[in-house]
Amino acid sequence: MFWACLICVLAILYASNTSLYHAVTVPHDSWPKFSSSPSSVEAISSRNAKIIHQGMTGGGPETVILSDDGTAYLLCENGDVKSIQVANTSSPPTTVARVGGRPLGGAIARGECSDAEDILYLAEASKGLLRLTVSKLPVGTRRKAKVELVAFELGDGTPIVYADDVAVGSKSGKVYFTDASDVVVERVRGSRTLFDTLSASIVDGVRGERTGKLLAYDPRTGETEVLADGIWFANGVAVSEDEDYVLVCETFAARVLKVNLSAPRPHPVTVFAEGVFPGYVDGLSISHATGRVHVAVPSPAPGAIKVLSGVRPAWFNRVIRQGILMLPAFIKPVKYGCFVTLDLEGKVVRTWVDEGGDIANFVTAVEEKDGKLYLGSLKEDKVVVVDMEL
Ligand SMILES: *[C@@H]1O[C@H](CO)[C@@H](O)[C@H](O)[C@H]1NC(C)=O
Ligand SMILES: *[C@@H]1O[C@H](CO)[C@@H](O)[C@H](O)[C@H]1NC(C)=O
Repeated sequence: MFWACLICVLAILYASNTSLYHAVTVPHDSWPKFSSSPSSVEAISSRNAKIIHQGMTGGGPETVILSDDGTAYLLCENGDVKSIQVANTSSPPTTVARVGGRPLGGAIARGECSDAEDILYLAEASKGLLRLTVSKLPVGTRRKAKVELVAFELGDGTPIVYADDVAVGSKSGKVYFTDASDVVVERVRGSRTLFDTLSASIVDGVRGERTGKLLAYDPRTGETEVLADGIWFANGVAVSEDEDYVLVCETFAARVLKVNLSAPRPHPVTVFAEGVFPGYVDGLSISHATGRVHVAVPSPAPGAIKVLSGVRPAWFNRVIRQGILMLPAFIKPVKYGCFVTLDLEGKVVRTWVDEGGDIANFVTAVEEKDGKLYLGSLKEDKVVVVDMEL
């Protein structure tokens, strides 16, 4: 019945040539390969996980950035960067900078930091790559910050549309970052400050075009180059300890790509991990201390999208996809928490799952430090800390 109604509505819309979005081209070559029986499953529960700073983060701390001095920076939905003290959870989050827009991913540029200042690069979805200088003052003192927009277009004037995540090379100091898609992130309807990155990503996923890029910004020259393109939503990025490769999450292909920086340009891209994730992939980190790779899986594989992959002919598939774009409630994510820990060869070590999403929900980033994992979420107003040993 549902499909019958949907098809009727779509047929009418198609006939009258009405569309909310520009024409779509559906690729048929490669559909996401999800893992139907994840290996080494470990439940995220009150036994091994705790919630900190609930209701105090400024909404949706998409990423938690851990510094070496016990400070962590949260990139919040309201456009703030907040800092927390990892060792003292009764110390509330404090705002270090109001960068505005939607900061999604970031990394500390350790080579540029000093005793007096932390330097961070942030991917802000509406503007591009930001450089944030935070003066380090004693705990409890308001930190002073400076925000600069350092990259918003490529050399040929192509705009950076949807800056998403950042990693900084330990040797060159280059800033590797993703431009997720050419779908523009719009403001939340009726809000002057909030940006709806989730809807833009869903449009990209359903649309099925591959416009994501991996970029590299060189702070010495101020230039930004393209390392890889044609990515179906270029999301989390992490760089190896020796900066010989970069890993990138290709969200809607449910896989992780590996870009070999040691090989001559254009650097070859291979698949690092595929078919091992129970849903779409988002944030990514490499722990240089333990050699573990953590991949966030914010939502399970949606049944509708799996069914869609078989719908032929292509024009009809396209019509259905456009229709789904008009039914936001239909593709609203369910409550679910998951991330996958891999080794440096891309083999699964553990699949962490919170089926009901009561503790961890819509996990978008995982950062490891001293045996603990700090989970960010695009939607939840809290940080979840998972003890890897328990
Ligand atoms: C933790 O933070 C609270 C609130 O800021 C403060 O009162 C307390 O002294 C701190 N505890 C330690 C051990 O620093
Ligand atoms: C990267 O490329 C170099 C040079 O071509 C090669 O020696 C190395 O094995 C490659 N690394 C990986 C992980 O593929």
